[in-house]
Amino acid sequence: MTIDVPALRSQFPALNRPVESGVLPVHFDNPAGTQVPRRVIDAVAEYYTTMNANHGGAFPTSQRSDAAETTTRQIAADFLNAARWEEIVLGPNMTTLNFSLSRAIARTLRPGDELVVTRMDHDANISPWLRIAQDGGLTVRWADFDVETGLLDMASLKAAITPRTRVVATVHASNALGTINPVGEIARLAHSVGAYHVVDAVQSAPHLPLDVQAIGCDFLLCSGYKFFGPHVSILYGRYEHLAALPAYKVRPADDTPPHRWETGTPCYETWYALGAALDYLAEIGGRYGQAYESQFPGFTGRRLQFKTAMAALGAYEQELVAYLIEGLKQIAGLRIYGITDPALYTQRVPTVICNLEGRDPRGVAEALAARHIYVWDGNYYALAVMERLGLEGHGGALRIGLAHYNTREEVDRLLNALADL
Ligand SMILES: Cc1ncc(COP(=O)(O)O)c(C=O)c1O
Repeated sequence: MTIDVPALRSQFPALNRPVESGVLPVHFDNPAGTQVPRRVIDAVAEYYTTMNANHGGAFPTSQRSDAAETTTRQIAADFLNAARWEEIVLGPNMTTLNFSLSRAIARTLRPGDELVVTRMDHDANISPWLRIAQDGGLTVRWADFDVETGLLDMASLKAAITPRTRVVATVHASNALGTINPVGEIARLAHSVGAYHVVDAVQSAPHLPLDVQAIGCDFLLCSGYKFFGPHVSILYGRYEHLAALPAYKVRPADDTPPHRWETGTPCYETWYALGAALDYLAEIGGRYGQAYESQFPGFTGRRLQFKTAMAALGAYEQELVAYLIEGLKQIAGLRIYGITDPALYTQRVPTVICNLEGRDPRGVAEALAARHIYVWDGNYYALAVMERLGLEGHGGALRIGLAHYNTREEVDRLLNALADL
């Protein structure tokens, strides 16, 4: 059974809110942030109404808030297939969590130790490593990608990994090219020299079943607001690393994982609402996921629901992105960067970047916005990608990012508008 897109869309108030002229806006800005289902909005209100309190108090609101926090971590552990909920660290966004992680790892490194980053990564998984390299006399080695195919150059990644490598930081799915990288293989390469593997899963989490144990990574980061939730992010870390690494914390704070990684009073209402966003996904697995169950032997209950939900959403998105790319190919003077070979569509998420010859990406984005079609332009912090493509300093590229709630009709609106332009 395929997903019932109108039924899912009806749960998202923002998708059903017409602009003044009565037209519904088309949200293709999903890689920058997705819309949220009603239950996420309600969860924020419910938190403030029934459990708004700080951590560790002797009274019911604080106890309810603490219990909700543990529940959210249990749900998130199921989403990522983490071994235990204590491996789920929550924080304001992926970038902040990754800076905390990189600084803690830095304290265990010595000058001359090496870090590997890729040119396909968002800067949130490059700059934290460049900064600790600068601070501690570490060497940074870069892995490249193939500009023509949009695939990570595995030979250059292998060449960058040496016996002195301590961290390999790679993106799971690119927020620009959309390419999905073989993170399981990369984890094995990293571990063959005793390095940590840090996976940026911010752009894979909305589209793929994630499984930290199958990948075998040491750390994985993703952001709730990219997968239909609030502005809160997750750092998964293997328990032994979260317990052993010297996290920066204040003295009175709990020194056990995950709390030793979470400084100050967090945005509890978003933590609670993250659970609601994940419930939305689990429910999709329960309703539309049966056809995919055999792909996930050994999984049961909510863990299985998450896997089949993402498989069902991914199958729909694959069809939609194929429709988009084939339509874009028909537009004269339009260039797509990244995977365009239908045989390789399974190696991409539904994020497509392109440019119209002779047109400034910002101008095109504005012209689309005037038609109530929202796309991104610029570099979206994929600075190294844009530099490698020669687009940095030239306005970058347009980014059309699909989510499961988008439709063929919306893609047609975009294609017609681009053809006009
Ligand atoms: C691939 C990727 N990594 C990291 C980030 C940074 O995430 P956050 O905004 O949660 O810090 C983004 C944000 O767009 C992203 O797309």
